[in-house]
Amino acid sequence: MKSIQEIVTQTEFSDEDIIRLLSVTDKNEVEILRQAAFDRATEHLGNQVYYRGLIEFSNICTLDCRYCGIRKSNHDVPRYELEKDHIVSAAVWAAENGYGSICLQAGERRDPKFVDFVIDVLETIHEKTVSETLPNGLGITLSLGEQTLEVYEAWAKAAGNPVGLRYLLRFETSNPDLFDHLHCAPGKHEKGLERRYAALANLRKAGYQVGSGVMIGLPGQTLEDLCKDIRTFQKLDLDMIGMGPYITSAGADMLGEGMMEKKALMRLSLNMIAVTRLVIPDVNMAAATALHALEEDGREQGIRHGCNVVMPNITPRIVRKNYQLYANKPFIEQEPSDSNHYLQNCIEKSGRTVGLNVLGSSVHWLKRVKKI
Ligand code: 5AD
Repeated sequence: MKSIQEIVTQTEFSDEDIIRLLSVTDKNEVEILRQAAFDRATEHLGNQVYYRGLIEFSNICTLDCRYCGIRKSNHDVPRYELEKDHIVSAAVWAAENGYGSICLQAGERRDPKFVDFVIDVLETIHEKTVSETLPNGLGITLSLGEQTLEVYEAWAKAAGNPVGLRYLLRFETSNPDLFDHLHCAPGKHEKGLERRYAALANLRKAGYQVGSGVMIGLPGQTLEDLCKDIRTFQKLDLDMIGMGPYITSAGADMLGEGMMEKKALMRLSLNMIAVTRLVIPDVNMAAATALHALEEDGREQGIRHGCNVVMPNITPRIVRKNYQLYANKPFIEQEPSDSNHYLQNCIEKSGRTVGLNVLGSSVHWLKRVKKI
């Protein structure tokens, strides 16, 4: 049998290799995997970690994903919607503080009022953030769910920055039965895995750097499922990957199904990150905030295992506590500048530097569109 050391030096991996790497728990083997993933990231992407300032501008949601703390049927969460001025100020703050990009996230809505609101916000952010340091304005990542191609195109145009235009839409799991279990409350079929893949194809058509990902440690999910998730990342030719541990949430429908024990969940999540980095070395990969919800140094660990993006929460503090997709979300009470210092420290402790005032686009994308 091949040793872990032998497997990690490969550039092509069989399903068997992937599953073996995903299951390592021995301290020495874990360290071999971690170091290999970190080195592969350095080799393909350099030493910088990029910020995406996360603005969670509304928790109003029309859908009922069973794992999510802000699903429509959770009536215990006060709903909010930030005003345009507050969103724009947060974006301008990000630009002035060296963040090359922001990420706008909200509950899923498809009504014309919402679509137009996003257009208006994007146009204003672009107008206010073009500067000498950011000649194309802030990079924009949207995380606003499944929309039509026309809506994706309208938002792309409004963002005004085709070289810093990105969208995150996780497919959550590539196992179709598990996907249905996660999304379909009895009698409802709001979401389908094939439709999710079609939306990802439309995002590519509309010119976005396309990001997707999964939750790790879902009830019933197997290592074979996670291996298939990685194969799906390859097949979709993703530019960005974001994934994190599944954590139960008080307001979610799946609370009763429980979650993995914390230590094992953290190990599996970090293994999944490291293996993904080895298999697809040139994608941008975010150290999810959910890692931090499990362990104090979770995002630092993510970077040590091959992540090169962090998403500091810059949502105005007054509404932050109402955007809890899962329990124990960090930085509910902090001002943006606090989490800034914290994250800088965390990046530097893991041996990286912060990439300030740059877009930090996905190298995978740059190669595909022949910009490098
Ligand atoms: N635990 C972990 N991640 C979650 N998300 C939603 N609910 C949870 C949860 N309970 C993630 C989903 C979604 C992203 C916005 O947040 O993967 O795509």
